[in-house]
Amino acid sequence: MADIVIDNLVKVYPGSTERANDSISMHIADGEFMVLLGPSGCGKTTLLRQIAGLELPTSGGIAVGGRDITYLPVHQRNLSMVFQSYAVFPHRRVRHNIAFGLKMRKLPQAEIDQKVAWAADLLQLGPYLDRFPAQLSGGQRQRVAVARAIVVDADVLLMDEPLSNLDALLRLSFRSELKRIVGQLGTTTVYVTHDQSEALSLGDSVAVMRAGKISQLGGPLEIYNHPADTFVGGFIGSPPMNFLDGTLTPGGISIAGHLVDAPPGAPGQGAVRIGIRAESLVVHPDPAAGRVPAEVLVVEPLGAATLLTAQVGQSQVKVQVPAESTVTAGQAIHLELPPRAVRLFDPETGLTWTLS
Ligand SMILES: Nc1ncnc2c1ncn2[C@@H]1O[C@H](COP(=O)(O)OP(=O)(O)OP(=O)(O)O)[C@@H](O)[C@H]1O
Ligand SMILES: [Mg+2]
Repeated sequence: MADIVIDNLVKVYPGSTERANDSISMHIADGEFMVLLGPSGCGKTTLLRQIAGLELPTSGGIAVGGRDITYLPVHQRNLSMVFQSYAVFPHRRVRHNIAFGLKMRKLPQAEIDQKVAWAADLLQLGPYLDRFPAQLSGGQRQRVAVARAIVVDADVLLMDEPLSNLDALLRLSFRSELKRIVGQLGTTTVYVTHDQSEALSLGDSVAVMRAGKISQLGGPLEIYNHPADTFVGGFIGSPPMNFLDGTLTPGGISIAGHLVDAPPGAPGQGAVRIGIRAESLVVHPDPAAGRVPAEVLVVEPLGAATLLTAQVGQSQVKVQVPAESTVTAGQAIHLELPPRAVRLFDPETGLTWTLS
């Protein structure tokens, strides 16, 4: 069992007054794939480095498999790591870089060769096994670092933006491979990224971080469909969630002077921020009760679908329509907001309203 318990972790770097990690608590189940997601500087690497033992917390604790590892040296933690700065040994050939952890663990040579071949094949490194890292591109070096980490049978796999230097195609194919491999290995994994699509695709759970704190921790669809606040809604999804200011009234929500149906269980009255996804908005050519008039500003064909930018009152929204849609820029449209897709946020705090 290698579950990870992080208990009220605080990290203040020496000479700093800010909390790089601020009261972080989470439980990562044995075999779970946890993604730490958030903008640059929010504290993802800091948290990972404390799990790894490369930084010590200011307060709080970390336990793996029931064992307190908060102050344990790195080599006693049975972890496997890929760093943001893909550190590989410059004086070792690719095959010896990949085999490094296996040699340290004194595995039989035949088994080492087999695992190296497996990882090299997976990461398309076969042709480079006898090269030195200086003879590789940045993306190839990064793949060597990933190969070295996944061949080892560690309790916990820690990865910090391991795909950041790969081109889009390789990144996509490797992402699904990684998901398959880690699923098969069953290794508890903590994976850092600032790419929300990578987080949604890989994570059993996603912890969305902001300014050292966790804004929301949940399954990928949960954070996509029910963001805890406007920050999470605006960070997750491409395009991000649309926000419109309105007023709750007994007859529904008033948006730019037009009344739309409120979601079931909406609270009392007053100012409200409405969140709705681009794919949830429905475009109609004609006005009707419950629809909000809008003007199409931009039409972007994306291949599988088309993305509209539309002006609604003082705000702009993104609307996803089928690729065969004939909507043109400058056209007047009428938007339907299906009540079940509408999320309500407090305009002051940005926090979601808990609907009963
Ligand atoms: N060694 C350090 N000394 C002092 N401050 C640090 C140190 N390392 C990081 N910080 C600060 O701590 C905060 C969190 O940094 P961290 O590297 O954890 O962010 P991150 O979420 O990994 O960002 P990125 O996506 O850019 O890698 C930042 O404000 C950063 O400037
Ligand atoms: Mg980082």
